[in-house]
Amino acid sequence: MPASSSFQTQRFPVKLYDFHPPIDDFRSAVVEGLSLPQKTISPKFLYDKRGSELFDAICGLPEYYLTRSEMAILQTHAAAIAASLGNRTLVELGSGSSQKVRILLQAAPQITTYVGVDISRQHLQEACQALTQDFAGLGAIAICADYTQPLPIDSVPELRDQATVGFFPGSSIGNLEPAEAVAFLKTISVLGDLVIGVDLKKSAQVLEPAYDDAQGVSAAFALNLLERINRELDADFDLDQFTYRAHYNPDAGRIEMAIVSLRDQTVQLGDIPIPFQTGETLRTEHSYKYTIDEFQLLAMEAGFKPVQVWTDPDQLFSLHHLQQL
Ligand SMILES: C[S@@+](CC[C@H](N)C(=O)[O-])C[C@H]1O[C@@H](n2cnc3c(N)ncnc32)[C@H](O)[C@@H]1O
Repeated sequence: MPASSSFQTQRFPVKLYDFHPPIDDFRSAVVEGLSLPQKTISPKFLYDKRGSELFDAICGLPEYYLTRSEMAILQTHAAAIAASLGNRTLVELGSGSSQKVRILLQAAPQITTYVGVDISRQHLQEACQALTQDFAGLGAIAICADYTQPLPIDSVPELRDQATVGFFPGSSIGNLEPAEAVAFLKTISVLGDLVIGVDLKKSAQVLEPAYDDAQGVSAAFALNLLERINRELDADFDLDQFTYRAHYNPDAGRIEMAIVSLRDQTVQLGDIPIPFQTGETLRTEHSYKYTIDEFQLLAMEAGFKPVQVWTDPDQLFSLHHLQQL
């Protein structure tokens, strides 16, 4: 059973269900990931409190067209998207600061319950709290959980026997390998219909700066993972001896993000030595890009029927309404 609690003011209580993965899961994932021939750590570990703050900063960068484009789609088509949500309980996956959903909630006053699901607990709590303060009559439930695991819907009494609709913005689906994305969509089909944001294929000249900006915020976001490992897992990564790289691989249709070792070195993770060669990479994220057709095929493979797709005028981003077949 999760820890559950209500927090903050009496006037705007937000119920928190805490399924946050234990620290041992982080340790074993890091040890396992750093032992692979291609060192790899799941992007879900990028989001501690600092990581979430840095991600919010990325969203405001001139190069990061994704947030602006998706917000523009939501604003332009708010009424139609809100209509597709009906009056169901709105469950947002990877809700972060819950900014985009505000546009939908404004256009969908019929929605009275919002559920945010995110792995970054404090950020999630604060975002849900702010929503209940700003939307009169809205009840919010915060579920701190890893959405790549089966959603713990049955452990949340408020969700049992409720009609729900899923909202998954931010193109986080692109962090999954395509086969994983199909399996993931199948798993979250328990939520019913889905409104999902998907970044579109485009040139490396636009994509690479979006993931490696001039101010170095994306780099700080990635390197914060090493700081987190140092702090939480007793490691001694020297951040000056690593750099960050984002490269578009057009054949695979994905941005490949990695931390790169600047020299031969051995990092201690507790009592485990982790050798790095000069130029060796630690993969932090893949971000797959899809054409509209490619994503609709993937959704159909997962048992969804594409009902509607909206894009921004520059065709940078897409938002899909998917229904269960
Ligand atoms: C790319 S950000 C998107 C945030 C926001 N939805 C947006 O569109 O701007 C990804 C969000 O998903 C959360 N997240 C990443 N992996 C997760 C996982 N496996 N389970 C739950 N939340 C996760 C992060 O904490 C972060 O808030």
